[in-house]
Amino acid sequence: MTTPHLTPPTTDDDWWRSAVVYQVYVRSFADSDGDGVGDLRGIREHLPYLRDLGVDALWLTPFYTSPMVDGGYDVADYRDVDPMFGTLADFDHMITDAHALGLRIIVDLVPNHTSDAHPWFQAALAAAPGSPERDHYLFADGQGPDGGLPPNDWESIFGGPAWTRVPDGQWYLHLFDPAQPDLNWRHPEVREEFLDILRFWLDRGVDGFRIDVAHGMIKAEGLPDVGFNSMTTGRRQSELLGKGRLPYFDQDEVHDVYRAWRPILDSYPGGRMAVAEAWAETPQRLARYIGPDELHQAFSFDFLDATWSADSFRKVIDTALTESTIVGAPTTWVLSNHDKQRHVTRYGDGPQGLRRARAASLLMLALPGSAYLYQGEELGLPEVLDLPDELRQDPAFLRTGESRDGCRVPIPWDGELAPYGFGPPGGAPSWLPAPATWQALSVAAQTGVSGSTLELYRTALRIRHDHPALATDAGEVVWLDTDPGVLAFRRVAGPAALTCVVNLSGAPVTIDGYGTAIAASAELTPAGTGHVLPVDAAAWFDEH
Ligand code: NOJ
Repeated sequence: MTTPHLTPPTTDDDWWRSAVVYQVYVRSFADSDGDGVGDLRGIREHLPYLRDLGVDALWLTPFYTSPMVDGGYDVADYRDVDPMFGTLADFDHMITDAHALGLRIIVDLVPNHTSDAHPWFQAALAAAPGSPERDHYLFADGQGPDGGLPPNDWESIFGGPAWTRVPDGQWYLHLFDPAQPDLNWRHPEVREEFLDILRFWLDRGVDGFRIDVAHGMIKAEGLPDVGFNSMTTGRRQSELLGKGRLPYFDQDEVHDVYRAWRPILDSYPGGRMAVAEAWAETPQRLARYIGPDELHQAFSFDFLDATWSADSFRKVIDTALTESTIVGAPTTWVLSNHDKQRHVTRYGDGPQGLRRARAASLLMLALPGSAYLYQGEELGLPEVLDLPDELRQDPAFLRTGESRDGCRVPIPWDGELAPYGFGPPGGAPSWLPAPATWQALSVAAQTGVSGSTLELYRTALRIRHDHPALATDAGEVVWLDTDPGVLAFRRVAGPAALTCVVNLSGAPVTIDGYGTAIAASAELTPAGTGHVLPVDAAAWFDEH
């Protein structure tokens, strides 16, 4: 199917290089039909809000047909919309409206595993060991005299063994939940299927893909043991994520997959792109996913993991910028997403966390490259830490006691009663309850309020869009000499310059000579010809 009316907003093929992308966790963004779960029509109704916020694109988490064991990252039909989220027609209307407003749409692609409800897996279960149906997945015989032990020591990211036994005695691999069997990416039909899925969504007008577990897919030949797991040593293999090489992640052969995908992306007009959710042992290995014949971007999770210190931020920023120069692609910054504790809470309790989060956001938005925002961070939402256990839905919770539900609580839009405008009046309660404190954090409560986090983001995004030194990824970062614990860098474009200063020193600092203050995460006090920058604050200064 071709849908020529679904054209991207501009013909700028490089739009993604400095784009601000807003991550929509679909089931928690806006509920149009009152069933307590967000949906595509809810997104469509709130597109003007996102346009006014000043973002360039949306990344939608999976909305495909799914039993929702892992929030939709268990896909049963890659070419359809789950009824919970709407229909394909809703998707088409949504993307048409988004493009008309100048917003691009990135969808999530989940190639490492399917749902256990996927027809291929159902056929595999119904077929015999050794059958072609089983070959779409990674079935293997167990160890021990009766094959009663898993084929190797691999561990699920969600805790427990990565293998589940089926009634005929074989085991299948699932790096995540047992309801997410891993595909066999050495099978040509698996590869063909995903080329077709890419084309399906490209034909519907999507501007790009966020690739889930982009470092997965290929497993080391022979499925060798890692050598330890939490059952044998109490150490979880996932502790090595981003720190060491595991035989099921970041195998060289995975790059063949992307080299086959890139020509397809490039064959469509308007700069269709892909961003990798990939974890690799070193920044150098992560950089291998990026390039003219592979993917366009990879999230820089080291930035998200930086601790609140000038040294920590400076180090990850410098490393990421060096790598980006080598591969010729801009860095992809991110502070929060649907898998991580919200950065307001990560940076400290109460007001300190919010102060730091606002400062970190100004820091991120002043860096060259693209920035991914997670829905609700523009409201300064904290993690919800006290959700009742019985409401938690993250499959990892049952296996590890850790849950990602606290960052997935539905967005407060307006009103005085929960769920604060997330659904229509009289609708069902939201699938996770918003705390009462969120009434004061709603979009309506913050709109037009000077100093609110929402207005800070709006100001920062407007400046980022309009200021010549921030509008492209071209201007390099020039670090300036500062007091200890203070970061300051300048971006220059011709006669224009913007300086970002962040105070991580633990004491107020007096700063001078950077130009006119145009944005600040906390109030600046005039001091002589300069300003006092409070503790845990950032500010932008303009020179023309
Ligand atoms: C990464 C996704 O961001 C996460 O939410 C999901 O649970 C896993 N991949 C498995 O698909």
